[in-house]
Amino acid sequence: MTSPVSTDLSSDIPIEEFRALAHEVADWSADYLGGVGSLPVLPSVRPGDIRSVLPATPPVQGESLTDALSDFRDVIVPGLTHWNHPSFFGYFAMTGSGPGILGEMLAAALNVNAMVWRSSPSGTELEELTADWLRQLLGLPSSFDGVINDTASSSSLHALAAAREAAYPDVRNEGMFQQVHGRIYASEEAHSSIEKAALTLGFGRSGYQTIRTDEQLSMCSSTLRSVIQEDIASGLKPVAVVATLGTTSTTALDPVRKIAELAQEFDLWLHVDAAYGGPAAIIPELRELFDGWEIADSIVVNPHKWLFTPVDCSLLYCRRPEVLKRAFSIVPEYLRTPEIEAGRSLMDYGVALGRRFRAIKLWFVLRYFGQQGIIDRLRIHVELAQALASWVDSAPEWERVAPAPLSLVAFRFISEKLDADALDDANHRIMDRVNESGEAFITHTVVRGRTCLRVSIGNLKTTHAHVQRLWELLQEAAVHEGKVVLPPEVL
Ligand SMILES: Cc1ncc(COP(=O)(O)O)c(C=O)c1O
Repeated sequence: MTSPVSTDLSSDIPIEEFRALAHEVADWSADYLGGVGSLPVLPSVRPGDIRSVLPATPPVQGESLTDALSDFRDVIVPGLTHWNHPSFFGYFAMTGSGPGILGEMLAAALNVNAMVWRSSPSGTELEELTADWLRQLLGLPSSFDGVINDTASSSSLHALAAAREAAYPDVRNEGMFQQVHGRIYASEEAHSSIEKAALTLGFGRSGYQTIRTDEQLSMCSSTLRSVIQEDIASGLKPVAVVATLGTTSTTALDPVRKIAELAQEFDLWLHVDAAYGGPAAIIPELRELFDGWEIADSIVVNPHKWLFTPVDCSLLYCRRPEVLKRAFSIVPEYLRTPEIEAGRSLMDYGVALGRRFRAIKLWFVLRYFGQQGIIDRLRIHVELAQALASWVDSAPEWERVAPAPLSLVAFRFISEKLDADALDDANHRIMDRVNESGEAFITHTVVRGRTCLRVSIGNLKTTHAHVQRLWELLQEAAVHEGKVVLPPEVL
């Protein structure tokens, strides 16, 4: 005998219990966001600590969510690295702002899946609209068409799939194995997601060519030209070039206009990775840094990095969306609908079929802060980074290793008493001391073969006082590495 299908809502959690818990979660979230600055940024846990105190097997009978929430508070939260902390300066610091969090809550409640227009008319159209709003804020021409992906890694993969489609129209039918000579170029500072995309798309390591960078860590366009020419002479096929505006290590900016001209000359797809740096184009006085990106074929900008939107949210803008669609569109019978011509099917523009309603959180962010509010807040981050850069520049025991055009400063401790390897170790130790303090969190990078520290400013709650305290912590940590005198004006 089959059991009857329940239409009773209480076969899910009873709705009044849901309401009460939702209020409790909202209260917890507000308290957390209000007080996160007093928690240690980095937890003092070791690998395995968290799993070891949680049951290894799922419950046979359901448990109360009150118990799950108390484990969340007592076990999960103490094991978190707090990206929301105003002194989180690692990787690319970011903010899942209040408006973005509220949008995310609603998206979870709705749980719609915008595969095709019919499966979520509002989901589809709000994504189109929000992508277009952001395009306007970024100052990109209306020829760019945007879709929202989870991450920049997916966005760049999709962009390079379109590049492959443009270069090898037969690849869709014939596969890649006959066409082994394609080349994708990016600077030696490009993010690993670009190489990963090249590997995933069948270009192989030999099809991915990095181009050397100049003093500023920007792609050397004359080298790009000569590498392309040599490749053509040896029978290889240049397919795409990726320019980065805001590299991961130091936020270096590739010379996009020159690269765009080369891309046009040699008929290459130009993809711009502005995953982190892109939002700076909203600031009028920084727009010129992006000169030339408007003639790219595709651009990725991640609102979940430096535009106050909770992870995940990555915009892929494409000037040739029909090529992107050609690379990905497959419409199975069950997804054929009468609106297939009139309404867009977002599933056609990437690997994923199902998609979360990510547009709501970005829409809320853009509506709440508005253009001016965004400009004001991004400007503060840039100003704080410039202040830190100036302190580093005036301290003899520290050296800046790269320009700081946006909101990140890359620098290192130096001492004549230590050789190059010892200095690398010293910088690692300084980072560890700062991080162990629990007061601030920074990460490292390697520039021209040497270890450096990175301070990324992207949290809405970060103030001058937080950056100043970080500078003190750095100097206190450096005291152990030599005789560093703390300048009174920064203390
Ligand atoms: C320049 C750049 N591109 C791409 C990525 C990858 O981003 P995602 O985590 O969204 O895939 C990063 C990550 O920091 C990045 O810095």
